[in-house]
Amino acid sequence: MYRDTPHAVRLKDYQPPEFLIDRVDLHFELDPDRTLVESILQLRRNPAATRGDGSLVLHGEQLDLESIEIDGHSLTGSEFEVDQDSLTLHRIPDRFSLLTRVRIHPSLNTALEGLYQSGDMLCTQCEAEGFRRITYFLDRPDVMARFTTTLVADKARFPVLLSNGNPMESRDLDGGRHLVRWEDPFPKPSYLFALIAGDLRVIEDRFTTASGREVMLKIFVEPQNVDKCDHAMRSLKKAMRWDEERFGREYDLDIFMIVAVSHFNMGAMENKGLNVFNDKFVLARSDTATDVDFDGIESVIAHEYFHNWTGNRITCRDWFQLSLKEGFTVYRDQEFSADVGSRGVKRISDVRLLRAHQFSEDAGPMAHPVRPDSYIEINNFYTATVYQKGAEVVRMQANLLGPETFRRATDLYFERHDGQAVTTEDFVRCMEDASGRDLTQFRRWYEQAGTPELTAEGTFDAETGVYSLSVRQFTPPTPGQPEKSPLHVPLAIGLLGVDGEDLPLRLEGESEAPRAGTRVLELREEEEHFRFVGLSAKPVPSLLRAFPAPVKLRFDQCDEDLLFLMAHDSDGFNRWDAAQTLMQRLLLTLVRDPDHVVPDSFCDAFRSALLDSAGDQALLAEVLTLPSEGYLADQMDVVDVDGIHRAHAVLERRIGECLRADLLGVYRANTGDGSPYVFTPQAVGRRAIRNLALHYLMQAPDAEILGLCQDQFANGDNMTDVMAALRLLANHGGAEGNAALESFYRRWSRESLVIDKWFAVQASCSREDALNQVLHLMEHPDFSLRNPNRVRSLVGVFCNANQVRFHAPDGGGYRFLADRVLELDPLNPQIASRLLKSMIRWRRFDRVRQSLMCAELHRILDTEELSKDVYEVASKALE
Ligand code: PHE
Ligand code: ZN
Repeated sequence: MYRDTPHAVRLKDYQPPEFLIDRVDLHFELDPDRTLVESILQLRRNPAATRGDGSLVLHGEQLDLESIEIDGHSLTGSEFEVDQDSLTLHRIPDRFSLLTRVRIHPSLNTALEGLYQSGDMLCTQCEAEGFRRITYFLDRPDVMARFTTTLVADKARFPVLLSNGNPMESRDLDGGRHLVRWEDPFPKPSYLFALIAGDLRVIEDRFTTASGREVMLKIFVEPQNVDKCDHAMRSLKKAMRWDEERFGREYDLDIFMIVAVSHFNMGAMENKGLNVFNDKFVLARSDTATDVDFDGIESVIAHEYFHNWTGNRITCRDWFQLSLKEGFTVYRDQEFSADVGSRGVKRISDVRLLRAHQFSEDAGPMAHPVRPDSYIEINNFYTATVYQKGAEVVRMQANLLGPETFRRATDLYFERHDGQAVTTEDFVRCMEDASGRDLTQFRRWYEQAGTPELTAEGTFDAETGVYSLSVRQFTPPTPGQPEKSPLHVPLAIGLLGVDGEDLPLRLEGESEAPRAGTRVLELREEEEHFRFVGLSAKPVPSLLRAFPAPVKLRFDQCDEDLLFLMAHDSDGFNRWDAAQTLMQRLLLTLVRDPDHVVPDSFCDAFRSALLDSAGDQALLAEVLTLPSEGYLADQMDVVDVDGIHRAHAVLERRIGECLRADLLGVYRANTGDGSPYVFTPQAVGRRAIRNLALHYLMQAPDAEILGLCQDQFANGDNMTDVMAALRLLANHGGAEGNAALESFYRRWSRESLVIDKWFAVQASCSREDALNQVLHLMEHPDFSLRNPNRVRSLVGVFCNANQVRFHAPDGGGYRFLADRVLELDPLNPQIASRLLKSMIRWRRFDRVRQSLMCAELHRILDTEELSKDVYEVASKALE
């Protein structure tokens, strides 16, 4: 908690550690109220260290120090100094063993960093800087050590005791206690340390690696959840196989464990050999989890598993390099999901996410490069930029190199840097060394914040048969970066002929006509010109195919061309994008002019897409989903919250009315045949299109439609369908809505992940009294500020997914958010600060809302003893 102004940490101040730690022996006497941690470190001076006064400063926070020994000799008070966040030892040998004994208090740890209690179990979260709340240490990722961990606990209360690596010893002790010892043969940074103690059930399986080694797979959960682990286990085995085939990466220990915990700040954590998960990303049964949940589990399980190589075997030198592991690992999990599911749909949903979260982050006061150069609190930098834009930056390099060369480059990276703590620069150098390409200019993607804007213009000269395309690039200023340099941008394009076929793209001066299809142009200058020759008629350009770079495109394409692309583009992504642009245009017109009539041509195009049964249903559902209210807000200079909400409602209602018969047909045609739930791309696609049809129909429901929805809610055999119906009924309101919410609660009151959905549905409900309902739910016995999933379901969803009510012109939503942030900050600063981010783009709204938000931000900043987390976000928002 802060009194003084917290200072920023800067990349340019990086210094190698003065000491290295070869071995760590940890001994825990576990007790929720008072745990003893004894640590023995083998330290030696780092030959590569550049400066220092010879003393050793270890990190440590909230530790009650009991004793210190150096090489067996106890230190007296004058031989060391302790303050709030460090322990300093003076006059020390070049090589020595350091023993410390500290007490920590897991049951009081509400920040969920370090060792804490979740329900009846004890667990740890150390990334980024939580290990220093367990013991004194050089808690930085470039200090890699071999860990041995001995756990002692009451056997009845904590029969399962886990840590990283291999189990080496297990025995009973006196007083009903027992001891388990784990050894991790791989050197690792402290942020990858983990321990778990609890009364857990396990489901087990085996995996034989490509080289024939047997690996034990274990998923540990609380007893009531053993029947919800099958999907996670299947996902894990798929991910292990895929990483062998696609990246040549084999698992390296004999045992791999996953533990599901109910109190967790993030999604999951890749601790070596012992991944700890938010239970939301493990537990699924078809009646408790939706398709979105199943999908999330598959990709998060894969993501954490993939970290074993991209993050653990090769880790980050410092936290500015976070995207080295996160960007690359997100790229890997995206590719995995594309391969095991539908590639087209995956790309669309990834780009939707990027545009919704990363583009808006990049345009706001917290904009930062993929490799940030300064931070006050590193926990604020687990962002869409580091993760999603970082993945796009890896994807661009993979695409520039091509699949074979990229594979050689990643092989080189794994070989060259195994066991090291490295930088994004080291990664790019491997890409260069394996390919012979010069990526000097490309590196700016890591250094420059902001979303580049491409402005394209095209003209056709019928006489010469030349299509000229000019493209300008511009990256808007971001905090601390007023001027930007041009980037190296891959621009994949196609030209469509009159029948919709792909034309050959022959540039002026080329003798041979390349094959028809997509061609990648590489932009390097602020402005570039391309002349395509040999065309017999004016082509329809299809730019940014498959979204080759994280950029915004300004290209004045008429509605007719967009309709043509929507119907004919060979690139599925651009068919979707053309539809999105058309819908966005129409919606923004409706915002400006409420009397504008939705043209029949729109309904016709929508209808023909809907009835195109040849297509993939999941893709179709993506094509027919309107851009979100939040995304539309990003397209306006001054956000018109109410206008957007109204326009959205008008268009959805219009679709529901004029396509009633077609939507009903699609709904019926995609109704299950009674066979049990399966999670396959086809089945997911059928449920998606069917629920989208119901969504439009429910915008103006008559008795028949309402009956269908109620029937689906009452009799749906899977949570995807039940939840879709519940959401629609809740938004419809009235007696039907209340009855559905009540019966849902009664049915699921004991399943906490399902109850999260119940809170979330009400928080996102656009009914006018939504804020009152949310305030009322804060008093519900099942609500707790101490469970991050619950807070996100109620407070997070209201502030992020209920734009029109959160931004109510009376400022009630803003006051509500600021109150929650101030209430949460002393308990869990990470969650408080992440919630606050929903208010930092206050400058984009009208005067009245601006001043209301601004006042709340000042109220927060004027509060004493703010955490660094909240301080950084609030102060940057007001800068
Ligand atoms: N490293 C985790 C991941 O896989 C995220 C995380 C960060 C989890 C910090 C907990 C704390 O993305
Ligand atoms: Zn990760």
